[in-house]
Amino acid sequence: MANAQHSGEHWASRLGVILAVAGSAVGLGNFLRFPGNAAQNGGGAFMLPYFISLLILGIPLCWAEWTMGRYGGRRGFNSSPGIFTAIWPHRAAKYFGAVALAIPLLIYMYYVQIEAWCLGYAWHYLSGYMTDVAALREQLGLDPQQVKDDAQVFREFFSRYVGSKEHGAVFAAGGRELLWMVMVAFVLNFVLIYRGVSKGIESFCKVAMPLMVVCALCVLVRVLTLDPPPGKPEQTVLAGLGFMWNPQPEKLLDPGTWLAASGQIFFSLSVGFGIIINYASYLRRDDDVALSGLTASSMNEFFEVCLGGLITIPAAFVFFGMALKDYAGSTFNLGFLALPNVFAQMPAGWLFGFLWFFMLFLAAITSSLSMLQPVIAFLEEGFGLRRHASATILGLITALGCGYVLYFSGGTKALDQFDFWSGTMLIFILAMFQTFLYGWIFGIQRGEQELHQGAHIRVPRIVQWNLKYIAPVYLLVIFLGIVWQQGPQYAKQIWNDPVVFGSVLFMLAVFVFLLVMVHIAGRRWERQGRIQYQ
Ligand code: ALA
Repeated sequence: MANAQHSGEHWASRLGVILAVAGSAVGLGNFLRFPGNAAQNGGGAFMLPYFISLLILGIPLCWAEWTMGRYGGRRGFNSSPGIFTAIWPHRAAKYFGAVALAIPLLIYMYYVQIEAWCLGYAWHYLSGYMTDVAALREQLGLDPQQVKDDAQVFREFFSRYVGSKEHGAVFAAGGRELLWMVMVAFVLNFVLIYRGVSKGIESFCKVAMPLMVVCALCVLVRVLTLDPPPGKPEQTVLAGLGFMWNPQPEKLLDPGTWLAASGQIFFSLSVGFGIIINYASYLRRDDDVALSGLTASSMNEFFEVCLGGLITIPAAFVFFGMALKDYAGSTFNLGFLALPNVFAQMPAGWLFGFLWFFMLFLAAITSSLSMLQPVIAFLEEGFGLRRHASATILGLITALGCGYVLYFSGGTKALDQFDFWSGTMLIFILAMFQTFLYGWIFGIQRGEQELHQGAHIRVPRIVQWNLKYIAPVYLLVIFLGIVWQQGPQYAKQIWNDPVVFGSVLFMLAVFVFLLVMVHIAGRRWERQGRIQYQ
């Protein structure tokens, strides 16, 4: 394998790469998906399957991805089709790389929209629009006699903002603000990606990550010092923590809890996304991967459990009490419906609302950036394209997908489909392939050696055995569980609902397109002598 065509890009510093990987991991999943998941799936009891998944799947696979990524990078590849072929010189390997490109690409198509919601909400808080509920009600044209409850006002605002009432709503007159926000988010993502790994992603994450901690801590301190509302002394922050964390051990017998926990770990750590493997390929030969991987994962857990787990639910409990149950079931309800009620009722709510949504926006953008880079890297090394050409092609593809999800916004239907197929199913498929690749092709002996090259810590050998024998079985069981539990419901929707059918078809078309591109790139690499099959 020749090195001649390597992009030559590298991370500028060790801190930079850790913050970039942590930035990719810390995202909407930490602050929106995690609290809802935990509250719904047994509270404190959820943490048992959660930590088991973290120890058996999350951190070991993260190490495997860091290790394989750096190895592939040294052999001149930054994209997953190339890296997989460098590890497994078989014709089939590169096509699995197409899965690792499809995942971040498809997730980006809906993720950037939620990013835009956060940006829009942050803007409205800063302008004071969101905390004046009476004015908001009037603006929305709601009858104060009929809509007395603030919660209803926020619900109406949200559904109009994201266009969840009917398809095409965000393109209709009066609903277009979101389009502007999506455009701003899009441009920002592409400007940063265009600047490259070190000048774009790394420089941005070095500023964004500390800023996120500051914003989150401000909101957290405010939440933990909230007083119960008048006449409801039982609605304390402590009781809110109890609502979220009191264990319901019976939930451990429900397979759904285990599925939710491992899905959460993957989504949250950005493991099985095709991202870490790409980021790690920009490391130098002796750059540490063992401690860096662990540090990035630990940062993610700090954001998820300590910040995500302490803000949303306790804050919302103080205002809603046990009625919070109506909100805790959905990822978006807590962040976009429950919390605005909280901010509207606290002094300087506009400021805390702004800090919260701005922090969510930062968390989202450091993640969405990482979803673009794997595909940019592939277009560059697969077709010899320059950055502006690869960014333009990627811009067109993502705009098409994003337009689809934006248009079919009724009941957030398209978004949910993209989230389930790419954000759950494909992630498990890629994770299973990667454990096979690492444990059985790359080999755990070589893996252990490679992982410890330049390492600042020693990783126990059991991690290698786990990657070879335990993790694949655990993954397979969880995957079959998801297929068994959720498959029939999703499959039925495909045949009964044209939008669902269209969404699945769209994702399939993107995947086939990527397969063809990977095939062409593979032929090119063969001609250049960059890959030789065995
Ligand atoms: N890891 C990212 C998140 O949690 C995708 O949102």
